[in-house]
Amino acid sequence: MSENVHAPDLSVNLAGVTLKNPVVAVSGTFGFGREYGEYYDIGRLGAVCVKGITLLPRGGNPPPRVAETPMGMLNSVGLQNPGIDAFLSDELPFLRRFDTAVIANISGNTPEEYARMAEKLGDMVDLIEVNISCPNVKAGGMLFGTDPALAAEVTRAAKRAAGRPVLVKLTPNVTDIAHIALAVKDAGADGISLINTLGGMRIDTETRRPILRMNTGGLSGPAVLPVAIRCVYQVRGLGLPVLGMGGVSTASDAVEMMLAGAHAVGIGSAMFADPYAPMKVLQGLGEFMASHHLTRISELTGGVLPWEA
Ligand code: SIN
Repeated sequence: MSENVHAPDLSVNLAGVTLKNPVVAVSGTFGFGREYGEYYDIGRLGAVCVKGITLLPRGGNPPPRVAETPMGMLNSVGLQNPGIDAFLSDELPFLRRFDTAVIANISGNTPEEYARMAEKLGDMVDLIEVNISCPNVKAGGMLFGTDPALAAEVTRAAKRAAGRPVLVKLTPNVTDIAHIALAVKDAGADGISLINTLGGMRIDTETRRPILRMNTGGLSGPAVLPVAIRCVYQVRGLGLPVLGMGGVSTASDAVEMMLAGAHAVGIGSAMFADPYAPMKVLQGLGEFMASHHLTRISELTGGVLPWEA
């Protein structure tokens, strides 16, 4: 007699795109995949989100631009990248060798720049992540993400030109993240990514100088996990697909993120401490499904239960 055993279904749907599993390498922590490709088959990931791309190449901010913090790190990289044309000609073909979805994270100084980049990407990537939340640039970035009208304007511009679904990456450095999420939803976003980094600063007590050359930077790592969970939870009622990220380093963190409302989960800074973190999270998710008798991982999304009155 054969037992009817179904393989656990780790696939998820993110804004209309099927990912083989919910584990996504977060933009800015995975480069364009080449270095991590030396550790494991990056085709095992649900998706790779590439380092933030701009219309023209950028050298980024002067060093020091990273600093350690309790349970995390600060960065003020400043969107160092080779520009969209070099991405398309030199980096995307490498990533396309792997059986994983590719998400292009794009940043611009104006809504028109986002549109031009979305147009250049065409249908060559699976999803576009419109970054309106970088805290380390003087123009664009977080300025767009903290104003609902500007956030909507950028979203509309990118959507008009995009040939693939658009996720908008939100900053937690606002009073009410659901307000911004609603603005980008109304402007046509297909989904949202959250959270980008929290503004932070450290000072060297001997030199009395800020540790970062740009004085302030963005905080990531395990310290921000509860903030990320809270933000994902606060947008869950909007009916938008969510790529949840911020401080996730274990399978248990990823389950928590999905219960809060995420459809897929980003692993970022954790990879700086352990390049295998995404593989360990993936394996742990499979084990969690088995021990909790889940057949589909997507059952977890939004599964947080309310306290009884
Ligand atoms: C950076 O390059 O400064 C980080 C990117 C971001 O926070 O979006």
